[in-house]
Amino acid sequence: QQPLQVAVLGAGTVGSQVIRLLSEQSAEFAARAGAPLEVASVVVRNLDAPRDTPIARELLTTDATSAINSADLVVELIGGIEPARTFVLDALRQGTSVVTGNKALLAAHGPELYEAAAASGADLYYEAAVAGAIPVVYGLRESLAGDQISQVLGIVNGTTNFILDAMTSQGLSYGDALAIAQERGYAEADPTADVEGLDAAAKCAILASLAFHTRVGIDDVAVEGITAITAEDIDEASRSGQVVKLLAIAERGDNGISVRVHPALVPQDHPLASVDGAFNAVVVEGEAAGRLMFYGQGAGGAPTASAVLSDVVAAASHKVHGGNAPRESTYAKLPVLPASDA
Ligand code: HSE
Repeated sequence: QQPLQVAVLGAGTVGSQVIRLLSEQSAEFAARAGAPLEVASVVVRNLDAPRDTPIARELLTTDATSAINSADLVVELIGGIEPARTFVLDALRQGTSVVTGNKALLAAHGPELYEAAAASGADLYYEAAVAGAIPVVYGLRESLAGDQISQVLGIVNGTTNFILDAMTSQGLSYGDALAIAQERGYAEADPTADVEGLDAAAKCAILASLAFHTRVGIDDVAVEGITAITAEDIDEASRSGQVVKLLAIAERGDNGISVRVHPALVPQDHPLASVDGAFNAVVVEGEAAGRLMFYGQGAGGAPTASAVLSDVVAAASHKVHGGNAPRESTYAKLPVLPASDA
């Protein structure tokens, strides 16, 4: 079997771990995918930028178009909307499957991408876009495709959970806790998206789209972040047997769906209350399945790389053996209830 050529766009925290694991475990990946997977190119903005994990110089390129055109599979880990959107669309329109961790792109332009994938027969996979290593996208997209989901309730941003947990358990100030979250690589380059709830809102939109088989964009999500949470709020919650958590909530009602992200008081004996540090957890309520909880590492290079690589194996295996990822292009838009009605 000919090796499949993989183009990796972006060599940051996650990209460099993906490249490392693909090379260190090449025999295992070849066996699981049905063909060897070769990193053919790594597209970066600056060839000379310092990197935590060294990448062979001959793989690095700034020419995304050539890298995409010659790839069998594209892994997009640049983040943000442009140029990621153009690159992903270029690949999908050529029939080249894409694995992405780009929640902002999916939450803003998901339907356009799903349609491009369906039109050309390519796969679009995005496990890493929500809750890092936790297989919640797969869970909703495939494992629970036989159920009616009524609610998804999650802690889907590691940075804000780390901050709130450090404020609660160590009495740290908001600023000190944020600085540690950034040092550890949980926070986005600009932590505004984390602390203002926008990162969680993008993930909430993706989860709601999958859970309710509809199209939910980031603009549909009512958002409030954690910047206004004070040490007094945390103390007050503790005194009443509760903890403050930033929750992403997606619910199906009779007349539509409700999607929102906001700080919430969670009773200390609720399973989400004990989710500490940068961990994430998502509780899903299925009509037939009942309550399920997904829990694990929702951020960080290696955990997120694990999610990316599971998608790489799935897309590569389809390339070798046939088959496709599920198709979200058929979803219609359900009414989104105003936040005040939720
Ligand atoms: N900044 C994100 C978080 C990274 O803290 O959860 C994973 O999307």
